[in-house]
Amino acid sequence: MFSPSIYLLSLPSVLGLALADQACPRIPGIQVYATTPNEGPSEGRFTSCENGFDSPKVLAGNASSYDWWYFDAIGTDGVSSLAVAYFVEANKSGFTVTENFTNRDFVQISGTFPNGTSFSDFLFADNNAIVSAMGDGSSGLWNGTGASWAGSPDLSEYLITLDAGHLGYKGTFSMHSVAPPHYPCSPKRANETMEVLLGVGWANSIPDADVTVQMTIHGSTLSFIGTGYHDKNWGVIPFTDAVGAWYWGHARMGPYSLVWLDSLTPSADEHASGYVAYQGQILHAECNKMKVRPTGSNVHFPPQGNDSLPEGFTIEVDLGGELGLLKAELASNLATLAKPGYGRWIGTVNGTVGGLDYEGVAGYEMFNFF
Ligand SMILES: *[C@@H]1O[C@H](CO)[C@@H](O)[C@H](O)[C@H]1NC(C)=O
Ligand SMILES: *[C@@H]1O[C@H](CO)[C@@H](O)[C@H](O)[C@H]1NC(C)=O
Ligand SMILES: *[C@@H]1O[C@H](CO)[C@@H](O)[C@H](O)[C@H]1NC(C)=O
Ligand SMILES: *[C@@H]1O[C@H](CO)[C@@H](O)[C@H](O)[C@H]1NC(C)=O
Ligand SMILES: *[C@@H]1O[C@H](CO)[C@@H](O)[C@H](O)[C@H]1NC(C)=O
Ligand SMILES: *[C@@H]1O[C@H](CO)[C@@H](O)[C@H](O)[C@H]1NC(C)=O
Ligand SMILES: *[C@@H]1O[C@H](CO)[C@@H](O)[C@H](O)[C@H]1NC(C)=O
Ligand SMILES: *[C@@H]1O[C@H](CO)[C@@H](O)[C@H](O)[C@H]1NC(C)=O
Repeated sequence: MFSPSIYLLSLPSVLGLALADQACPRIPGIQVYATTPNEGPSEGRFTSCENGFDSPKVLAGNASSYDWWYFDAIGTDGVSSLAVAYFVEANKSGFTVTENFTNRDFVQISGTFPNGTSFSDFLFADNNAIVSAMGDGSSGLWNGTGASWAGSPDLSEYLITLDAGHLGYKGTFSMHSVAPPHYPCSPKRANETMEVLLGVGWANSIPDADVTVQMTIHGSTLSFIGTGYHDKNWGVIPFTDAVGAWYWGHARMGPYSLVWLDSLTPSADEHASGYVAYQGQILHAECNKMKVRPTGSNVHFPPQGNDSLPEGFTIEVDLGGELGLLKAELASNLATLAKPGYGRWIGTVNGTVGGLDYEGVAGYEMFNFF
């Protein structure tokens, strides 16, 4: 067990150490983000260090930079869900964030009740947001929203707390990791690229987790157990300058944990990151081997501007050895968000590995800026 307040309030001891490794200069253990962006250039980190996996990756964030921490949970019923994302992201980052945008420190909460009814809200921080890093973990507090998270230094346990009854959200969401972390092209280790494609950082601290959600949301109870996921993304140039399209998601399929982020640059160069773990052991954490493709009518690969939203996706990756080709299909139970060029779904996965059939639940997303 761990106490959230300890990680949030204790100063990381590493602050006192000399900046011995010039190749990996430390980002200060605590970042305080004002609600307005800095002027001028900001600095993004895109090569991994020994630790600091889930730490802030952008210094002096400006109007086009973004740094966010994302958490989700999907119920075993394949419908109940909760996603909480903590953003430091101003309005030139390339996302059309919200019509009610007031400042760059905000929390987006969305999800679905077991009957399929969805909810979504933005909570904007007062004055500042704070993230502290310890070991590989992080903790954060978006001032005035009542929304925070606390992570253990070894990335094994995270607790998300929403103490915002006045805004309609009260409760907790805890995650226990069941799959080791990875970067876009490798397991967690130093001196690896953290760019999923040029200009976009990605660090997937919890590819798969057992989760418990106990929330009261606008007066209704949302309580479930299921699977969860945590990652972060960041960049210093607008997301839409770097990305033409992307298919992202995660699934638990039998004993396998799957994560994919198959992306295209605006000129349609494909960069795919794939991850497969079996009972907590990484089988595959590499670039450009896994293939994710949309299915349905009037969809294309590469996507086109007037494509329909996909009905599902197919996933293929060669695991080599005795297992050989892993094939999986995603089918949606419901779209939690669907608008031109953007889709987000909760659904099922089924597939084969080593000649055996498996199934499970999945959460996935698509951007199409073409
Ligand atoms: C923010 O900083 C990055 C990196 O220096 C730079 O490329 C970008 O143009 C800056 N954005 C703004 C709005 O100044
Ligand atoms: C971004 O937000 C700032 C401050 O709220 C505002 O002055 C500016 O007009 C906004 N810019 C855009 C492109 O929306
Ligand atoms: C923006 O605020 C208005 C008024 O409070 C509200 O009706 C609307 O749903 C909000 N839009 C979003 C995207 O949150
Ligand atoms: C939140 O902002 C208020 C007003 O600036 C400040 O007094 C308070 O210390 C902040 N809380 C944290 C945890 O920083
Ligand atoms: C880091 O990786 C780069 C390129 O992959 C390599 O040239 C360099 O020697 C590595 N540095 C260390 C300290 O391992
Ligand atoms: C679905 O469940 C929510 C939460 O319990 C409730 O507020 C809503 O009215 C329900 N919707 C339907 C269509 O039954
Ligand atoms: C979609 O757009 C492409 C080019 O942008 C065009 O060639 C094609 O005919 C369009 N398809 C439909 C169904 O409108
Ligand atoms: C998924 O299930 C469908 C329906 O049973 C089946 O047709 C399909 O072959 C399965 N896909 C994979 C990859 O096993």
